[in-house]
Amino acid sequence: MILEKIEQIKEELEKIKISKKEDVENLRLKYISKKGEINKLFADFKKVSPDKKKVVGKAINDLKTFTVNKFDELSKHFEDKGSDEIKNDLTRPGEPLTLGTRHPLAIVRNEIIEIFSRLGFSVNEGPEIEDDWHVFSALNFPPEHPARDMQDTFFIERDPDILLRTHTSSVQTRVMENNAPPIRSIFPGRVFRNEAISARAHCIFHQIEGLYVDKNVSFADLKQTLLYFSQELFGKDTKIRLRPSYFPFTEPSAEMDVSCTICGGTGCPICKGTGWLEILGCGMVDPNVFKSCKIDSKEYTGFAFGMGVERIAMLKYGITDIRKFYENDTRFLNQFQSAW
Ligand code: PHE
Repeated sequence: MILEKIEQIKEELEKIKISKKEDVENLRLKYISKKGEINKLFADFKKVSPDKKKVVGKAINDLKTFTVNKFDELSKHFEDKGSDEIKNDLTRPGEPLTLGTRHPLAIVRNEIIEIFSRLGFSVNEGPEIEDDWHVFSALNFPPEHPARDMQDTFFIERDPDILLRTHTSSVQTRVMENNAPPIRSIFPGRVFRNEAISARAHCIFHQIEGLYVDKNVSFADLKQTLLYFSQELFGKDTKIRLRPSYFPFTEPSAEMDVSCTICGGTGCPICKGTGWLEILGCGMVDPNVFKSCKIDSKEYTGFAFGMGVERIAMLKYGITDIRKFYENDTRFLNQFQSAW
């Protein structure tokens, strides 16, 4: 009885028509699954008389091997065929595109540009490889100033000096040489300083410079512009304070602090308990700079400011190591989303 059944199943399997993937699955369900025909045979096998057990057992095992092999062969065939069919189907949707994200420095730079453009500032750029005149001499740096030393500046050639600009103030020189006032513009760009790389400093970083030159520009205009900027960038409750400072190209000069973006001014480790964070240098354009650029300092006055984009991004996002910006680790970069 049972041998006949085995024979019958084998015949069925030989004749079976398989034309699509589902047929292969049906074959598996009908014959090799837990409740399939072959398992039923194994159940019946218990009732077989001991003298026939050897022959019947072998027959069932052979049938099982035969069926499993057939199934494997068929599934492989339909899998290959299936993927070919999919490849050739011109109506299928395309592969999904993974969009990258903006770099955090680009997000912050764009935001700063946007804020100043609302105040009527245009955007200008200048070269990264500069001469001494545009970076130092025209900006009233005395000959013995330490920035003119190899220790602070990357020189490409000496005498005449060609160097990597150490600040975007060089673009001030270029814009004032080539444009008559009124001038109202900002200059974003990369700058280079011969510094040891650490969590707080890098030899390449980004600055945004601002310049406003017109008749009757006052220090009060500078302060109001910076207050507007700070509140737009860090929030309406942000306070600013200006501390006297020194730059060769501005007089008077100041450094600007904003109330700490983390604790709001009560004191925390980020602001070292002071409640204030320094974010930029600024001042009124020195008459000597106007003279270098052939602008009449009796007719015109102006203000300038310069800020580090990395520093602002670090404060805005709570980043504690500047090197993170340049490692291109997508796990870091993917955390920043922007509207731009
Ligand atoms: N150039 C200065 C710096 O790199 C910043 C600055 C710009 C200061 C404009 C005053 C006016 O530190």
